[in-house]
Amino acid sequence: MIKKVTTPAGDPAWLVTDYDQVKTLLADRRLGRGHPDPDNAPKFTDSVLLGKPHQATAEEENERHTWMRRMLAPSFSARNMELLRPRVRRLADDLLDDLVRQPQPADFHEAVSFQLPVLVICELLGVPYEDRETFRRWSEAMSTLGDRRKSEEGFTNLWTYMGELVERKKKEPGDDVITRLIEGTPPGQEEVIAQLSAGLLFAGHETTVAVIDRGVMLLSINPDQWDALSKNPNDIPNAVEEILRHRSPASQRPEDSGMPRYAMADIEIDGVRIPSGDLVLLGIDQANHDEIRFPQPHAFTSREANPHLTFGHGPRFCIGAPLARVELTEVFGALVTRFETFGLAVDVAQLTLRTEQLVGGVAQLPVRWTDA
Ligand code: HEM
Repeated sequence: MIKKVTTPAGDPAWLVTDYDQVKTLLADRRLGRGHPDPDNAPKFTDSVLLGKPHQATAEEENERHTWMRRMLAPSFSARNMELLRPRVRRLADDLLDDLVRQPQPADFHEAVSFQLPVLVICELLGVPYEDRETFRRWSEAMSTLGDRRKSEEGFTNLWTYMGELVERKKKEPGDDVITRLIEGTPPGQEEVIAQLSAGLLFAGHETTVAVIDRGVMLLSINPDQWDALSKNPNDIPNAVEEILRHRSPASQRPEDSGMPRYAMADIEIDGVRIPSGDLVLLGIDQANHDEIRFPQPHAFTSREANPHLTFGHGPRFCIGAPLARVELTEVFGALVTRFETFGLAVDVAQLTLRTEQLVGGVAQLPVRWTDA
């Protein structure tokens, strides 16, 4: 199904919501990020992220994108991420040690969900962990909705910070992704590397933080699933796929939202002609709740097959999916085996939401527990 909607920025767009269509279109190269006339293009948000498109033809965009994947994908391969698993588990266990030293209720979002992905992406990229509060502020500013200036400022600060880091690493190389990017690129490309690294730092934590929080909420309000997992931790990978698929219980995402793309040629979707330059939103969340593909889509349950589209599909499939999966399986593995009882200390309806932020999620997650 395709329908006309208005984006959060107030511009017209097309929204696609059926699973099969969303999946096919995610892989369709005729839909892209570029636009021939960016100043007059319809916008999804006012943020620099998923806001104004860049000027590019389909060919230029494919070339740039292929180069980007060639540069980044090897560092985040499933094989390399599996090697990180024991380290990620140790970090998750240490963070839970810190959590249980706090009086109850304690804020799981601050103590674990935020820290784990940030620690891991900092180690991988070679970004000093001590700087996390600074780049957290900039990341948050960058993904602010509805305030273009604040978003641009956050982006510029993060990019400048990464530029300085790139210069330092040119003099003192490390064993990290940024150093490998520098070594694999001809001189003069420092700005591009800084931009890629800023993107990775952002992508590497914002989304995973929100999914960890979402998993804690879902397991808290579905205690049968928590019990089943504590008895059988081998089911954690399945549960993680269901956490990835399922909408957040605290979600306030407008129903008319989706992954933004621009038609780079006149195309037809579901019998409707979409002119080149129009904005098309690919409803990943809606597709993940399409009952033809997922029976009882709103139930949080153990599913035999879970071909959700949370990491996208096709040539833009999330480069960080193997890393996110390692982090999620390890943090939930550590959680269900460590505590006898564990759950939210307040109702989901009482949680403070990050409505200003593109990725959304919650600002705090008060939890209580008893040790196993
Ligand atoms: C649960 C956590 C995550 C979710 C839900 C998620 C989701 C996504 C989605 C939906 C896309 C596709 C965007 C599109 O089709 O335009 C994507 C792309 C991407 N993700 Fe993730 N992501 C997560 C974690 C990560 C992590 C940890 C990294 C860090 C390495 C990362 C890096 C990237 C990059 C670089 C791309 C761009 C790929 C491309 O354009 O070819 N993501 N992610």
